[in-house]
Amino acid sequence: MHLHKYEKIWLAFGVFALIIFLSVVGVSAFHQGNIPSGGHMTIDPEKVRETAPFNEPGLHKKEDGTYEVSMIAMAFGYDPAKLQVPAGEEITFTLTSEDVTHSFSIVGTNVNMMAIPGQINHRTHTFDEPGSYLVVCNEYCGSGHHFMSTEIEVIQP
Ligand code: CUA
Repeated sequence: MHLHKYEKIWLAFGVFALIIFLSVVGVSAFHQGNIPSGGHMTIDPEKVRETAPFNEPGLHKKEDGTYEVSMIAMAFGYDPAKLQVPAGEEITFTLTSEDVTHSFSIVGTNVNMMAIPGQINHRTHTFDEPGSYLVVCNEYCGSGHHFMSTEIEVIQP
């Protein structure tokens, strides 16, 4: 088999690039100890409604003065369906799904989480301005996906 000179150059370049990339991944994983983000919590997706904090979906004030919102995503909506939270306070959203993969994306903010059955996701956010914030599902979850949304009412404390 005859290989053209340019083919040989590109093959060598490809192999060289592959070695570089695998070395970067290898050093990062095995020398620097980088692993996919961990520390996440799991939950029995069959028992979401019996497991704290999802047995009481909604806003709770924590002992340190910050707030937690426990939120369940399901086809095709969120529990609680209506939510009021105070402006200017640190709020941690704790999220899971009780059926399929959804997402919880607060439009106009950095909050954009996946709701995965069996997994618990957290995201902390402070709403600076009172107002009405739209929440949508960004993961295709079934025939009602396009209608899956809710609103968060941010009020002056
Ligand atoms: Cu839930 Cu798309």
